[in-house]
Amino acid sequence: MSRSAHPAGPRHADVMTEGHYTAPAEDLNALDERVWARTVTRDEHGALTVGGIGVARLAEEFGTPAYFLDESDFRARCRAWSDAFGPGADVFYAGKAFLSRAVVRWLQEEGLNLDVCSGGELTTALDAGMPAARIAFHGNNKTVDEIERAVSAGVGRIVLDSFQEIVRVAHIAQRLGRRQPVQIRVTVGVEAHTHEFIATAHEDQKFGIALADGQAAEAVRRALTLDGLELIGIHSHIGSQIFDMAGFEVSARRVVQLLAEVRDEHGIELPEIDLGGGLGIAYTSDDDPREPHEIAKALGDIVTRECEANGLATPRISVEPGRAIVGPTAFTLYEVGTIKPLEGLRTYVSVDGGMSDNIRTALYDAEYSVALVSRTSDAEPMLVRVVGKHCESGDIVVKDAFLPSDLAPGDLIAVPATGAYCRAMASNYNHSLRPPVVAVRDGQARVIVRRETEEDLLRLDVG
Ligand code: LLP
Repeated sequence: MSRSAHPAGPRHADVMTEGHYTAPAEDLNALDERVWARTVTRDEHGALTVGGIGVARLAEEFGTPAYFLDESDFRARCRAWSDAFGPGADVFYAGKAFLSRAVVRWLQEEGLNLDVCSGGELTTALDAGMPAARIAFHGNNKTVDEIERAVSAGVGRIVLDSFQEIVRVAHIAQRLGRRQPVQIRVTVGVEAHTHEFIATAHEDQKFGIALADGQAAEAVRRALTLDGLELIGIHSHIGSQIFDMAGFEVSARRVVQLLAEVRDEHGIELPEIDLGGGLGIAYTSDDDPREPHEIAKALGDIVTRECEANGLATPRISVEPGRAIVGPTAFTLYEVGTIKPLEGLRTYVSVDGGMSDNIRTALYDAEYSVALVSRTSDAEPMLVRVVGKHCESGDIVVKDAFLPSDLAPGDLIAVPATGAYCRAMASNYNHSLRPPVVAVRDGQARVIVRRETEEDLLRLDVG
C-alpha cells in the first residue's frame, strides 16, 4: 500500500476544516497494541485473531454484531492493578463498566473486590459467589429495598451519598440489628479534564456531599452519632476517562485534609480513603493512558506526603477502576452491510449494530477507531463514518476513521476498546437484540452473556 496515500483531495480537505478526525494511520492493517486487547493479532492470511481464534470462525459461530472479550487480558489487567497497589490497598472493580457472573468469578480468582451500584449488580455479584464483605455499594439514590438487601447480605461498605441516606442506612441497619461499615462520598471541587456529562466531582452535580461550606464535616459529625453506622472512611470519585493525574492529586490532598479535621474535632483517625475510578484508556492511537503502577505510585506518594504533613497515619487506600480494566479487553465485531460514498464528504459504512450496542459516540461524542479484520488490504485509505442500522441520523459508531477503499459488503470490521460501558449501556432501541459477550481464551470461546432473542422481547411484552 502507498503509505503517503490520502483520499481524494476535496473530500479530505472539506472534512479537515471540521477539525475532528485524525489522519490515516500509516498502515491501515496495523493493530495498535494500546487500543486492541493483548492477544489480538493477525494470522498468516491477514485475518484478525483473538485468543488464537480467527474472526471468521467467531462470526460464524456466534454471529454479528458481538462483543469478543479477551479473558486473559482481563485477568492480566486485574493482576496489574492489584500488584501495583499491593497488599496495603484494595482494588474494587467498578461493575457498572461491564458485569456478568463470569466476570465476578474472574475477579474473585484474581483477588479483586467489586463495586456495585444497583440491586441488579448486587444480585449478580452475590449469585456468582462474591463474598459480601468484598462488595462496596454505591449510588446517589439507593432504594430502601436495595439498602436492606445490601445490609442483610453484609456488604463490606456502603458509600453514603446524601444527608438523607446517612439516616436511612443507619435506621435500616439498626432495624436489622447490624452496624454497617460506611464511607461518605465527598465532592472535592475538582473538575476532571473530561466530557462534562461524566465529570462528577465539581460542585454542580448530583453526587456526593460537598467539602465546601463544611458540609462533608457535618456529614461526618452526623454519621458518628448514629449507632447503626461504622464510619470507616471518606470516598471521592472525580470523573471518568481521565489522563491527567493532577485532579487525583488535588482530590487526595483534600480528602486527607478532611481526615485531619475529623481527627482534630473528634479525636479519631478514619482508617480508609477511596479515590474512586476514572482512569482513561486508549480508544484511538492519540490516547496515551497511564499504567497502573504509575497511578499507584502517584496516588500513594501524595497520600503519604499529605498524611505526614498532617501528622496522620497513612490510611488504607482503595481505588475503583472499571473502564481501565475491562475497556481495552473487548472489541465489537460487525458485518458491513452497505457502503454509501457521499461525494465531497465521506463514505458511510453501515453495519449490523449501532447505537443500541454502543451509545457512547452519540451520547458523549466519544472517539473510536475501526479496522477491517476479515482480511488485510493494500487499497488506498478512504475517510468513513461507521453508522448503525437504527432509525436515527445520530446513530454513529465511529465518527471519522479510515478504512481501505476496497471495503465491500460482507467484510468484517471491528471497533476496539468496547469492553466498558457498551454492553452495559446497550438498549433494545428499534426492538434490536442486544449482542452476546463471548469470552475468548487459549483457543476456546464461550458465551458469557447470550444474544437476546425475539422471544426475549415478546416475553416482556405482556399486553
Ligand atoms: N467509582 C465510582 C463511584 C463511579 O461512579 C465510577 C463510574 C467508577 C468508579 C468507575 O469509573 P471508570 O474507572 O470506569 O471510569 N458511562 C460513562 C462512564 C460513567 C462512569 C460512571 N461512574 C462512559 O461511558 O464513559
